[in-house]
Amino acid sequence: MKKYFIPGVAMICAILTATGQPVRYGTGLPATGSEKPAHTIFTNPGEDCSTGMGISWASPVGTIAAVQLIEGTDTVMIASEGYLCTTFDSINSKLGDNSDVYERHVFDKHSVMLTGLKPDTKYSYKIVTGEGTDTEVSDPRFFRTAGADSWKAAVIGDFHHYSPLWRRLDASMAMLEVLDSVSGGFDWVLSPGDQCAWGGSYNYWTELSEQPSYINYMWGAVQGNHDNMSRDKELTDAYFRDTHAHPHNGYVGQEGVVYWFKYGDVLFLMLNNEAMRTAESLAPVFEWMENVVAANPARYIVVVEHYEWLIGTDGSDSQLDRFRDVFDRLGVDLAISGNNHAYLRTRALRDRKPVAAGRGTFYVVASSSDDSRGRELKPLAANEEIISTRWSEGAKTVGAMLMDVNPHRIVMTLYDREGRVCDAFTVPARR
Ligand SMILES: [Fe+2]
Repeated sequence: MKKYFIPGVAMICAILTATGQPVRYGTGLPATGSEKPAHTIFTNPGEDCSTGMGISWASPVGTIAAVQLIEGTDTVMIASEGYLCTTFDSINSKLGDNSDVYERHVFDKHSVMLTGLKPDTKYSYKIVTGEGTDTEVSDPRFFRTAGADSWKAAVIGDFHHYSPLWRRLDASMAMLEVLDSVSGGFDWVLSPGDQCAWGGSYNYWTELSEQPSYINYMWGAVQGNHDNMSRDKELTDAYFRDTHAHPHNGYVGQEGVVYWFKYGDVLFLMLNNEAMRTAESLAPVFEWMENVVAANPARYIVVVEHYEWLIGTDGSDSQLDRFRDVFDRLGVDLAISGNNHAYLRTRALRDRKPVAAGRGTFYVVASSSDDSRGRELKPLAANEEIISTRWSEGAKTVGAMLMDVNPHRIVMTLYDREGRVCDAFTVPARR
């Protein structure tokens, strides 16, 4: 994949480190953000990814805008009415040159839910803004609908894009290129969160959206704690909600943040750990999960949240015991998390005990991928009997997984930046 940056406002520099290795970094956007009439464009899952996708972007207030959807020789225009978004107005942040700034972004937020798509089909689309002689058309972006019996997703998170340390983004995007190479191509990207260091810094989302992996793929992500915060530690789901176009099928108060979607045979339940901090707040989550699973039979059930099921660095308890009874009851096949910046994977578990694959839930804590914020492994302090594998490269960890699905099994494989396999396990179909 070729590197892509915003002409005129971002650039690539190359310097040599003491070891002679080239280090690239971008200067990022100015405080005023992108000047494009449609920017911060993301492709997100529709409720049924064989026929639907969500398209999110921002345009100057009052701009006439539409999605131009292209499949083969067919072109369809879908008009969009945005709504005024002030979520990112006057947010304390840092620019790529490390200068302090208040980012001021007021725009029309657009969310278009594409429907009626053809299954297993590659689409492109452009955002068309203005009218008459003022019409502008964005560069094309791409996605593939679900529908094939076999498909692959890249699983990557905890890269904490931060403009002053652009190398984090380069490391994680290079990791996706490695996954692309070793897999022979994947179909979309699943992220357990922390795409941004500060989700309140809108420029960081805009800069992410210009990366090839965001241009070329649909991203299904959960909100990480960093995506939920600003530099001033203001915490809100609005940063994540107002940069994405998710199905509004979450429980009350979490529409557009908590959501579910189907990609082929897999039902994904995408949770928000920031809304699950108390025992009382888990009740609506469990009720929602039970209702969604009952209403949407699927061969596989995968749950994703950001906070780790077990502490990757030493194996001690974390979120697992809050969820395991419900996961047992619902027959969750795979539970993916992040946050801990060290990879951990359990054996298949039921009733908190190891069982044969196909009879329980595999719990995975994804590694970090930014060559910056990884964690050293310590001796196991607990849960040795249920933990299968841990992996870390210390602070400078870069790793990601490939999720390879067919009607018989899911194969999850962890790779390092060299494309070496660091863990692999098989989740058999049990439905
Ligand atoms: Fe993180």
